[in-house]
Amino acid sequence: MEEFIVAERLTKKYGNINAVDGLDLVVYSGEIFGFLGPNGAGKTTTIRMMTTLTKPTDGRVHINGFDVVHDACKVREVIGVVQQHISLDRDLTVRENMEYHARLRRLKPAERKKRISELLDYVGLSEYADRMVDALSGGMKKRAAIVCSLIHNPKVLFLDEPTVGLDAQGRRRLWDLVRRLNSDGTTIFLTTHYIEEAEALCRRVGIMHRGRLIALDTPLALRRKLGLIAVETIVGNRETHYQFFADRAEANRYVQSLPPDVGTVIIRESNLEDVFVVQTGEKVGGG
Ligand SMILES: Nc1ncnc2c1ncn2[C@@H]1O[C@H](COP(=O)(O)OP(=O)(O)OP(=O)(O)O)[C@@H](O)[C@H]1O
Ligand SMILES: [Mg+2]
Repeated sequence: MEEFIVAERLTKKYGNINAVDGLDLVVYSGEIFGFLGPNGAGKTTTIRMMTTLTKPTDGRVHINGFDVVHDACKVREVIGVVQQHISLDRDLTVRENMEYHARLRRLKPAERKKRISELLDYVGLSEYADRMVDALSGGMKKRAAIVCSLIHNPKVLFLDEPTVGLDAQGRRRLWDLVRRLNSDGTTIFLTTHYIEEAEALCRRVGIMHRGRLIALDTPLALRRKLGLIAVETIVGNRETHYQFFADRAEANRYVQSLPPDVGTVIIRESNLEDVFVVQTGEKVGGG
């Protein structure tokens, strides 16, 4: 697999806050890579540096072989970005927003028209093309923002928290779109603080905590290192206690050995939340 995004000791400081602190990371061409972490972990700051929106304080990033600081124009040719907060013009229709992006990307008029109609069809927005953005549902707005960022056919698409605020159906529809884009050849770099989103979509995930990458692997490999089966026990009103085991047989042996005063026992599959909690002592969702 070809190395597509390469970050080396990537660092961003805001005053004395290390928003991103010496990040080393490789994302391969063709993968769906997920950046997981709680609020303030440094996910958006990383995307902003990778997409030439802010300069690193230290370290560097190459995308498709080009340095994001010294070859920003070359980098912008191959990237598409959907920012955390929707950046569409709400007083324009979907098509007008797409036209605007197509002009920015200098598509010729004939090409513009064709590309816009193909993309509208691709994301199922053809019949909403002439509606004002403000009149669309949250899921449609997100899809509209995605098509604007795809106008120049980028090799990699950055999606910062793509499903925040969407209902279950909207979220699943967006996951399907991300998968389809990826199988049609687009590398995807997304951030999320939803564990199930990272598990459902991403080939590999990096877990960020206070600007640092604390874990990096496939979801299954990360869970396997911890133990695929989790046992939660509660004694009286005290805190829940977690233990992890390689398989159910081991977990069952442990449960049978528990003293009788253990009130509640839950046996379940482990997840990326467990990986995060064990590594940091905190929860991804805060608390
Ligand atoms: N422009 C800025 N000026 C000062 N501090 C900033 C700026 N942008 C981010 N930060 C700080 O950098 C840290 C990382 O923020 P960042 O937005 O990258 O986190 P995040 O992982 O994207 O969080 P969220 O899940 O809330 O979007 C935070 O402490 C944040 O307050
Ligand atoms: Mg963010």
